[in-house]
Amino acid sequence: MPVKKGAEIAPAKGKLGVLLVGLGAVSTTFIAGVEAIKEGLAEPIGSLTQMGTIRLGKRTDNRVPKIKDLVPLAKLTDLVFGAWDIFPDSAYDAALHAGVLEKDLVEKLKKPLQKIKPMKAVFDQSYVKRLSGTNVKTGKNKLEMANQLIAEIAEFKKKNKCDRLVMIWAASTEVFMKQHAVHRNLDTFEKAMRENHKAIAPSMVYAYAALKSGIPFANGAPNLTVEIPALMDLANKKGLAVCGKDFKTGQTLMKTILAPGLKSRMLGLHGWYSTNILGNRDGEVLDDPDSFKTKEESKLSVLEYILQPEVYPQLYKDFSHVVRINYYPPRGDNKEGWDNIDIFGWLGYKMQLKIDFLCRDSILAAPIVLDLALFLALAQRTGMKGVQEWLSFYFKSPMTAPGLYPEHDVFIQLMKLKNTLRHLRGEDLITHLGLEYYD
Ligand SMILES: NC(=O)c1ccc[n+]([C@@H]2O[C@H](COP(=O)([O-])OP(=O)(O)OC[C@H]3O[C@@H](n4cnc5c(N)ncnc54)[C@H](O)[C@@H]3O)[C@@H](O)[C@H]2O)c1
Repeated sequence: MPVKKGAEIAPAKGKLGVLLVGLGAVSTTFIAGVEAIKEGLAEPIGSLTQMGTIRLGKRTDNRVPKIKDLVPLAKLTDLVFGAWDIFPDSAYDAALHAGVLEKDLVEKLKKPLQKIKPMKAVFDQSYVKRLSGTNVKTGKNKLEMANQLIAEIAEFKKKNKCDRLVMIWAASTEVFMKQHAVHRNLDTFEKAMRENHKAIAPSMVYAYAALKSGIPFANGAPNLTVEIPALMDLANKKGLAVCGKDFKTGQTLMKTILAPGLKSRMLGLHGWYSTNILGNRDGEVLDDPDSFKTKEESKLSVLEYILQPEVYPQLYKDFSHVVRINYYPPRGDNKEGWDNIDIFGWLGYKMQLKIDFLCRDSILAAPIVLDLALFLALAQRTGMKGVQEWLSFYFKSPMTAPGLYPEHDVFIQLMKLKNTLRHLRGEDLITHLGLEYYD
């Protein structure tokens, strides 16, 4: 466990600044949603921090508070938003452009949304090939641009009178990158930033700026970003919480709900074919093979870990797993994901499952951003540093401590999350052991 049972948690006082990298479909749907909820126009559906409950003690105790009443979390009215984007559109214009929310709703929220104007981005098209924009920083080198971000973060905090800040990457998926020698430690990393080394992606510049500024960082895309020794050491040294990668929504969410169920009944798998049509800017970016490769790696790892073919070779050895994303503009943000699942049961008899998920990606992602902002800020106030594995619940490709495998099963992830909250509050963990009738 990262901290002592029942550790002291600093109160969630004052304003919490949520700094979003990228002011696109996910970010604007998140911000507009919070504003709509504050106005009483909607309920926080999909958000565990707002709606979720947690059982404490024995079943007979009847203690089932809301999560937000168990641990101190920032209130929605205390959130302040800031963002960077390569396009200068305000959150109002960006929300209209994203086309996730109905125009009527966006109009009702025009005032708060129009106030959020993105700061100039750290951007380089070689990392996101399908995009180009004008709202972009210039600077001698990557370290200098990181210092510009650090100055903006300090300015944002002062101007908005924030007590605390968190940063969440909700910008486009960058091209696939592997760890490089320059990521080894902070000295080599900073030297590489000074030399404009290509192994330093823009997302790493933001993560570096966040950590240098003493604020926790979450990565909502599958980019490498903070998952490198130099930045992990920095996070640990400065006592900062980090988590990632890639918000778990849509098809992968369904996969991590279904696969544990199939496995629990010892049903075998011959193959899982997943395809998507998607027409938003994210779909356009992922149409580039290098960005898609980053996404593909993130989506593919899920089944292997859940099904454990090495433990159950008769059921899961050599199953075929294919994931495709096709950019299809008429669909906008309303993605359609098809899954064909070839399973087998008793005596090897074959069966099929077909799923057609008419999904709204950003509608699923927005409450994740909210929960992550609040839980990351909680982790920070509790003194939890480094990778926050208890937040794996929200990610397709959860970051882990070195040497550990990621947990993908959504039910285990939820249990880990809730048990972490129980632990923080000095409550007994719930194991569902059932040694006595009331356990
Ligand atoms: N359900 C989901 O929508 C979902 C799920 C998992 C992951 N994600 C990831 O979250 C990210 C955001 O998704 P989205 O649908 O909002 O995409 P989007 O294209 O609507 O928004 C991304 C925004 O990031 C901006 N951007 C790109 N590079 C930037 C940079 N270096 N600095 C600042 N801004 C930059 C783009 O201009 C764009 O406005 C993507 O990486 C996506 O893969 C989304």
